[in-house]
Amino acid sequence: MKLPQIRTSLPGPRAKKLIKLDKSFVSPSYTRVYPLVVDKAKGLWVHDVDGNIFLDFTAGIAVNSTGHCHPQVVKAIQMQAKQLLHMSGTDFYYTPQILLAEKLAGLAPGRGTKRVYFGNSGAEAVEAAFKLARWHTKRELNIAFFGAFHGRTMGALSLTASKTIQKKHYNPLVPGITHIPYAYCYRCAYNLTYPKCGLYCVDWVEDTLFRTTVPAEEVAAIFVEPIQGEGGYIVPPPGFHKELYKIAKKYGILYVADEVQSGMGRTGKMFAMEHFGVTADMLKS
Ligand SMILES: Cc1ncc(COP(=O)(O)O)c(C=O)c1O
Repeated sequence: MKLPQIRTSLPGPRAKKLIKLDKSFVSPSYTRVYPLVVDKAKGLWVHDVDGNIFLDFTAGIAVNSTGHCHPQVVKAIQMQAKQLLHMSGTDFYYTPQILLAEKLAGLAPGRGTKRVYFGNSGAEAVEAAFKLARWHTKRELNIAFFGAFHGRTMGALSLTASKTIQKKHYNPLVPGITHIPYAYCYRCAYNLTYPKCGLYCVDWVEDTLFRTTVPAEEVAAIFVEPIQGEGGYIVPPPGFHKELYKIAKKYGILYVADEVQSGMGRTGKMFAMEHFGVTADMLKS
């Protein structure tokens, strides 16, 4: 059986040297949590620059569903690199982009026509959804959740409510966003117990929020992670999304599912929202 191999103290001498260099030249805004300097990886195994071998329990940053450097993935990248490296889907047409959009549209749940926007990151997908919601509804307000992580660009950061430090010194952010409690039953914001609560956290949106502070007719979208990721891997109770979605539809509000962390098969279905029987108006993955 192949086992992890730790050959040096950690970080090793080469890693230490590179981290020192990094400190001089790389932006300090990157939030590294431990001093791993990766050299190469294959499948589950990650090699550092000192020849230490680690078992990767995190699939990179939870994105390497096929393992590191899967031969088919490598082959596709190599073939494409030989054929065409520069592309700009905003200016011209490319066969792989069109065919991939067709495939993704087929994978996205729900009936009806679906169209794909390609971005470079999760944050960019959130920014696009944020703008599209305004464009489509001509409304200015949005709702998001405490504990949510949607990215670090200004719009996405405005929707994020995960850790104060992520916003420190960046205010004022995009206005018009109201954060509300997620259906976090283990630490219920209303000190209630599911199912006796009758999904009070959803009723509260209509009975309190829309009655007292936020005019429902001015809300463009509800941005929600089907399962909250960075907020603590919180699976909401059955019925949460369905009931909230019903309220959204009642007031012409778009339901935007941020599946950057939960989509692409990570929860056993292609998209986590499929577990909850709701077809979002926009899906980011
Ligand atoms: C739910 C969710 N949305 C958006 C993002 C932002 O993605 P990116 O780091 O690719 O900008 C993340 C990143 O972890 C995320 O977990």
